Amino acid sequence: MTLSATMTARLASVAMRDSSAWTTHLPGKFVVFDGPDGSGKSTQFRAVADAARGAGVETIEVREPGGTKIGEKIRDVLLDPANTEMVTRCEMLLYMASRAQLFEERIQPALARGAFVLADRFISSTLAYQGSAGGLARTDILAIGDIAIGGRWPDLVVVFDVDWATAQRRMSRALDRMEQKDADYHRRVREGYLEQAREQPDKYLVVDSTAEPETVIANLTRGLHDRLCSRR
Ligand code: TMP
Repeated sequence: MTLSATMTARLASVAMRDSSAWTTHLPGKFVVFDGPDGSGKSTQFRAVADAARGAGVETIEVREPGGTKIGEKIRDVLLDPANTEMVTRCEMLLYMASRAQLFEERIQPALARGAFVLADRFISSTLAYQGSAGGLARTDILAIGDIAIGGRWPDLVVVFDVDWATAQRRMSRALDRMEQKDADYHRRVREGYLEQAREQPDKYLVVDSTAEPETVIANLTRGLHDRLCSRR
């Protein structure tokens, strides 16, 4: 077992400890984990997916951009550092194209049969990156997003909040085209997520992700419990 697999197993066991109530509300739900680059959301994503499966819930994991054969090709175009000339409108529409394919091919059928769908990024990313940071109108993104997903919006968006300085320290690998954008862009991305959460407090859950992973997952499972168990 690698070090990160050990960590994920430990986190999943914390999630399991507190999972008896909230996991019963997962079937048929669509939950998004989102946040700035370097927020550590992928570790938490793994732990919650493992906890859901451990509780016997059929769990479908998807990631954006990508998650389908066509989507992975779009992802390569989007993240290739050589594509320096890509304009923000093209960027936004490519993310939406990948999403439309993912939604119809994988998300929609899974929700229809009562599975739990956990997505790593969704329209909340487009609102933060191409909207708040890139300058595109929020209303345009929402309208095109609604077409891409046929009006089936997520039940809950969890935002893992981190400042850019902490995030950068966590990203030791080579940075992709989006991650290479400047600090001011990433500051606007973060503010964009927080603004979305302020506007739709019932749909968003913000988790401070600067703490140790065990603390983050404990806060996350508490938040999931509060959100999922208080509504049907
Ligand atoms: P990832 O590194 O989490 O796989 O995400 C890929 C990059 O794409 C990340 O920098 C965020 C960015 N992104 C957008 O700019 N807009 C979007 O709609 C999505 C889904 C991701």
